[in-house]
Amino acid sequence: MNQPQNFDNTDLDRLHAAVKRENPDVVAGREPTPLWVIVGMMIMTILGGGYAGAYVGGFDSEKSNPFIERPIDPRGAGIVTGPQLDAFQLAMKKGSTVFNNCQGCHQPTGLGQPGAIPPLAGSEWVLGGTERIARIAMHGLAGPVSVKGASYNNVMMPPVMSDDEIANVLTYVRNSWGNQAPMVTKQMVAKVRAEVKDHVGPWSPTDLEKYKEMNCPGEIPAGPGATAAPVAAPDPATKK
Ligand code: HEC
Repeated sequence: MNQPQNFDNTDLDRLHAAVKRENPDVVAGREPTPLWVIVGMMIMTILGGGYAGAYVGGFDSEKSNPFIERPIDPRGAGIVTGPQLDAFQLAMKKGSTVFNNCQGCHQPTGLGQPGAIPPLAGSEWVLGGTERIARIAMHGLAGPVSVKGASYNNVMMPPVMSDDEIANVLTYVRNSWGNQAPMVTKQMVAKVRAEVKDHVGPWSPTDLEKYKEMNCPGEIPAGPGATAAPVAAPDPATKK
């Protein structure tokens, strides 16, 4: 063998072990990433994410948390925080107060008094044309009427109310005790007010016959979504 004298295998093993301990030679441009760069990038990722979360794009952990329950707003007007009434709920709330002026006669139950005061609950007058009930709320009604198949012949003198109060109380009576009918707005009432400004005293049922099914323009459906775009008013000419 071509081995130098006095060279044994133990020396060879030691020599190889020393060589194996060395890291491989570094190739220019492919040096391993230093630890401080990795740590630095981690810190920047954490701080940057925190900053973006707090200040960029309107992210809100309250809003974005799918596990927090919140009311669904049918109008899609954004997230409602705290109790907030839509136009319909507000009209109902105010209208229930104005109704204090009516309930002495029509009763809190809306059932009226047999033989003397007609009911508002289920009344075809209440649910019918808004042109007609707006006039009744403004000037009253006197003479023979039939409500839900029963006859009355009495006089109603309404309290003095603003357009807003009339709108709210009519919305209220049209949507209480099982009644369901579109809202009455103060714009609708104002339009009727302008037409009847010279009228004095209660209407006779025959005066109002032609308004039986006539609705003021600009009707808005009652219930959730009451603030949505107004529904086109039915053309009075097409009504019988
Ligand atoms: C003083 C008693 C009295 C008060 C107060 C009164 N009403 Fe009447 N209301 C009557 C009477 C009586 C009639 C029926 C008149 C007739 O016989 O011609 C009537 C009829 C009506 C009608 C048509 C018939 C029906 O039953 O649907 C409506 C609608 C109505 N009232 C709504 C109201 C509203 C709303 C108020 C409050 C803003 C009110 N009334 C306040 C006594 C009253």
